[in-house]
Amino acid sequence: MQPPSAPLTARRNGPLAGRARVPGDKSISIRALILGALAVGETRISGMLEGEDALSTAKALQALGARIERTGERQWRIHGVGVGGFAEPSSALDFGNSGTGCRLALGAVAGCPITATFDGDASLRSRPMRRVLDPLERIGARTLASADGRLPLTLAGAREPMPIVFEPPVASAQLKSATLLAGLSAPGETVVIEKEATRDHTEKMLKHFGADVRVEANGTGRRITLTGQPELVPRPIVVPADPSSAAFPLVAALLVPRSEVMLEGVMMNPLRTGLIATLREMDASIERLDQRNEGGEDVADLRIRAGGLRGIEVPAARAPSMIDEYPVLAVAAAFAEGTTVMRGLKELRVKESDRLAAIAALLRGNGVKVDIDGDDLTVHGSGRPNGGGTVTTHMDHRIAMAAMVLGLASERPVQIDDGSFIATSFPGFVELMRSLGADLS
Ligand code: S3P
Repeated sequence: MQPPSAPLTARRNGPLAGRARVPGDKSISIRALILGALAVGETRISGMLEGEDALSTAKALQALGARIERTGERQWRIHGVGVGGFAEPSSALDFGNSGTGCRLALGAVAGCPITATFDGDASLRSRPMRRVLDPLERIGARTLASADGRLPLTLAGAREPMPIVFEPPVASAQLKSATLLAGLSAPGETVVIEKEATRDHTEKMLKHFGADVRVEANGTGRRITLTGQPELVPRPIVVPADPSSAAFPLVAALLVPRSEVMLEGVMMNPLRTGLIATLREMDASIERLDQRNEGGEDVADLRIRAGGLRGIEVPAARAPSMIDEYPVLAVAAAFAEGTTVMRGLKELRVKESDRLAAIAALLRGNGVKVDIDGDDLTVHGSGRPNGGGTVTTHMDHRIAMAAMVLGLASERPVQIDDGSFIATSFPGFVELMRSLGADLS
């Protein structure tokens, strides 16, 4: 359940300063819950994201028969039911705002001989599910009801799942992951061939739980081969800080004059660090300190110092490694000298909102000149935008946070209509930003 809508205003204040740790990675937290539910025995997760997306996924998995408990702050324990072992839920599964939770659970359910109804909030109900249903139907699942390939939909899992070779038509880690999770129940090898490599957390975690997964380079993409019907063995999961959440305080620290901020333990998986590479090309001062490995992922402390940015061209090929970071990158671009062109953003149209349109509206409403040409977004940087606008967030957490970052550094305050969706991925955002000196009210 989302709290009632809550307007929020960000205004300029002194420099941002201090250290902070953003919440656990959303992608890893959701995968840990799902793989924990498919393993036999007890999986312990530490550093879990306790945001709405992970919580609604946990509830759905409980309805499918997994036992899940919170044992302490960000500490969770799951008793899994084994691959193919989900029980038929007695009512619809509600994934709230979580596209990742819903699509990955569709994959996991597709390999079980049960029928389940999937639902979510108005944002999730507007997002395309047909792309996931296609490979799952090839594996043997049947879509019993769905208006126009959207939620609410009812899926009957495969009684005799078949392994498939699947080439996703779009670069999507959710699509890849749903296929692999369904393939767990199939005898033989399920193969996913990606044209562009996307975040690889599912493959890594499946290996961590003892599945036989081979990953081979394939041009700019990868070929992933999973041997089906493994027994997944519970292993402890340590969730690193989410780079997609770190992006907001990081960009705020770059834009608010004289700021210096340290963000601790941020995941540096190379398939997630496109924003840092891009900001560095724009002349941002971001240092990676104390680089180390935690729970199988590279992490680092990031030291960010405010400074001028310059506009650049961001190639389409970089999109998979920073797909969730375009709203806040566009805000950074508004403060740069010169023009920034971001290419190949078609997938932004089917996120929690139509993010391409929402980013343009966010910036235009605050005095920034923006062009959309096909799938490309051009932001004309002005050094320091005027601000002063009220931004419609369309139930989209990242549009909400990007607007707040803009307001922390623009001439005049920026307001959003509703900050409640921030809790889907970044509970404690307002408090964390205030602890660094931000004025959010
Ligand atoms: C995610 C994949 C991305 C991303 C989402 C999380 C994941 O979506 O936008 O926030 O955890 O697999 P797509 O796979 O649709 O690109």
